[in-house]
Amino acid sequence: MAKTETARYFCSACGASSASWAGRCPSCGEWGSLEKNVPAAASAAGPCKAPQSVKATDVLPPERISSGSEEFDRVLGGGWIPGGVFLLGGQPGIGKSTLLLQTCGRMAGNAGPVLYISGEESSAQIALRARRLGVLSEQLHLVCANDMAGALESLPGKKFLVVDSVQAMRADGEGGWPGSPAQVRAVAQMCITAAKEHSVPAVLVGHITKEGRIAGPMLLEHMVDGVLTFSGEDYSPYRMLRAGKNRFGSTEELGVFEMTETGLVPVGDVSGLYWNKAAETVPGVAMTVAVEGSLPLIAEIQSLASATTFPYPKRTGRGVDVNKIQLFSAVLDKRCGIGCGLFDIYVNVAGGLLLREPAADLALCAALASAVRDVPLSGKCVFLGEVGLAGEVRPVVRLSRRLQEAARLGFKQAIISAREEGAGKPPLEVVRVSTLEDALKAVIL
Ligand code: TYD
Ligand code: MG
Repeated sequence: MAKTETARYFCSACGASSASWAGRCPSCGEWGSLEKNVPAAASAAGPCKAPQSVKATDVLPPERISSGSEEFDRVLGGGWIPGGVFLLGGQPGIGKSTLLLQTCGRMAGNAGPVLYISGEESSAQIALRARRLGVLSEQLHLVCANDMAGALESLPGKKFLVVDSVQAMRADGEGGWPGSPAQVRAVAQMCITAAKEHSVPAVLVGHITKEGRIAGPMLLEHMVDGVLTFSGEDYSPYRMLRAGKNRFGSTEELGVFEMTETGLVPVGDVSGLYWNKAAETVPGVAMTVAVEGSLPLIAEIQSLASATTFPYPKRTGRGVDVNKIQLFSAVLDKRCGIGCGLFDIYVNVAGGLLLREPAADLALCAALASAVRDVPLSGKCVFLGEVGLAGEVRPVVRLSRRLQEAARLGFKQAIISAREEGAGKPPLEVVRVSTLEDALKAVIL
């Protein structure tokens, strides 16, 4: 009997395969994501050819196209790449459309005609916003529609493309409601193909789920050249732009903007944001210099120790991992004789900054010791070191960058590891310490 080819169904969200169709993926639980014989994703690679030496592949680095904002360009790795497609994700109302409309406005002035496709707002709404943002331009072309193929017909000749958002657009010929995994994938595929064909850099806006993932198939993030996230706290006007994936640059860069009446304004001097100068001389406050991408910023760790009434003392942290507070309380107990066990300890990093770097360990330990002993630290001193379980202080990455920033902002002293090399001629007084105990002796013990 002739062998019949059995169809397989693939989940566009998690990639799981199954022999039969179901309304819900049995593996990840996504609705309407099973599809028959998934077509290959569009990529810049093209059909299979004989292998080539990478040296013989004579390509010049593509010319970057500026977004018109230095802050944005830095996050992108120097600007857009022709045909490069980025996904921009963020909470509703965070400012994605504002950021992109401002970018379109600037690029319409510098690079040439740009196309802004919106499936979410009317032309009148966008025009009103463009007027408010001061980016009204003849060269900024709006298409307000949900039909992806129709909207992309206006792309030839444009220098930049925005699609706001992939969840709002519809790809005819593909089943499901707009926003369903199959539709989102098809819409993204059409945009990527069009952007590569016309060598136009493009940004697709993506809604995010409750868990913070971009809504739609997981595959989406693999299809694009980069994923940008725009985030910020509800109570704060500051917005952070980061690249979580970037085929054309680093993923470490951070762009900081402030949402104002007239749109997003880049924040030039980021260091001041997280530094509450008034609290300098209070016990429990220690300063460090964090580095986000190539941006150094002064971070202020505040801690409070109050006599505990519980059998197990409480440890609470905002901006630092609570496990670190527990760990360093134990290190301070054992290695330096600072009895943290009798105190409930609360730690907060000023300004809502999240400190994950080991370079902030020494400052955290100093803040804890200062709070427990109720002795203030000098407001002119920064702590830069990783602390180990043996109580040793280890070197940090990008030391000279951090020291320069501390000196620039008027700090007079830095406590660093004795094992630090290559600090050059430091721009401020440095105290080299081998152990946490030495560091505390230099400041409070
Ligand atoms: P928006 O760009 O529509 O967010 P998203 O596209 O991410 O959903 O931004 C919406 C918020 O930004 C809105 O709550 C008002 C605020 N906003 C300003 O504060 N200033 C401005 O100039 C603009 C255009 C918006
Ligand atoms: Mg929007």
